[in-house]
Amino acid sequence: MNTLEKKIHKIDFNQILTKVRVFAPATVANMICGFDILGFAVEYPGDEVHMYRVEQPGVRIKSIEGDDGRLPLDADKNTVSACVKNLLVYLGIEKELGIEISLIKHMPIGSGLGSSSASTVAGLFAINTLLGNPLTKEELMPFCVEGERIACGHGHADNVAPALMGGITLIRGYSPLDVINLPVPEELYAGIVFPQVDVPTREARQLIKEKVLLKDAVTQWGNIAGLIAGLYRSDYELISRSMHDVLIEPTRAILIPEFHTMKQIALEAGALSFGISGSGPSVVAITRGKEAAELATTRIQEHLNNCEIASLKFVSSVNVQGPKVLPD
Ligand code: HSE
Repeated sequence: MNTLEKKIHKIDFNQILTKVRVFAPATVANMICGFDILGFAVEYPGDEVHMYRVEQPGVRIKSIEGDDGRLPLDADKNTVSACVKNLLVYLGIEKELGIEISLIKHMPIGSGLGSSSASTVAGLFAINTLLGNPLTKEELMPFCVEGERIACGHGHADNVAPALMGGITLIRGYSPLDVINLPVPEELYAGIVFPQVDVPTREARQLIKEKVLLKDAVTQWGNIAGLIAGLYRSDYELISRSMHDVLIEPTRAILIPEFHTMKQIALEAGALSFGISGSGPSVVAITRGKEAAELATTRIQEHLNNCEIASLKFVSSVNVQGPKVLPD
């Protein structure tokens, strides 16, 4: 409560900006072996939010581009505006301030690239910037997680955390939320392919078994620990042998066309590892250097073309910055 009162006093209405444009990145959640606890941000794609201060109090969605009409314009139903409103309520200024939002999506919805997270983080980073940064990124995090809950019914943080903090993040715990930034080996690249089929996170989560075998859990936590050690040492060989998922991938792979062939192609092209990005259907080849990521994704796309499956590809290093304010 003290924190809340302090925040209210920090907002100086004369200092609030009239507009701001923010970009927030797509993310690869799970990092193959770390379901719901690991993720990293990429340079591109990502979403843009243009936010305007207006006279009439309340939060409104002005326009949405790039969503093929799939996202709600109703400010109470849209995740971005709902999160912005939550923040204004927390700060106690929702009845005084007028905000209009334009959302420009540069990435597909339901792709496994943290589409809703990128929009939510862009929106919350934008309102915080507009208000003169009253909250730290750490303080914004619970508002971002709430956005994920609104968007897909579950408040996992492995997309919003890297989208907001940048780099590679570990969710050490959820209750309370404990987010840790991990080191980013310089040559780590992601080659992402999005086969254009829709796999909503909500449904992809319903498929997963609630109980796991102890022997599989032992394998998985050994791999997670190995991956973390590999990141700290920039040991690409250790990263490679640790990035295997025995818990989630076997079930979810059935939702993704040509998954096993794509995996074989990526590994033959020199990828350190290959797996599902978030809840899919995007897949990711983790590589050492850009060249291997280009090669893996090009060959995977050629294969998907032969199978008459449309796809998009993105090659990116890890984005250590996270959201950024764009010039006017
Ligand atoms: N960890 C989440 C999942 C990420 O795998 O369902 C969703 O993008």
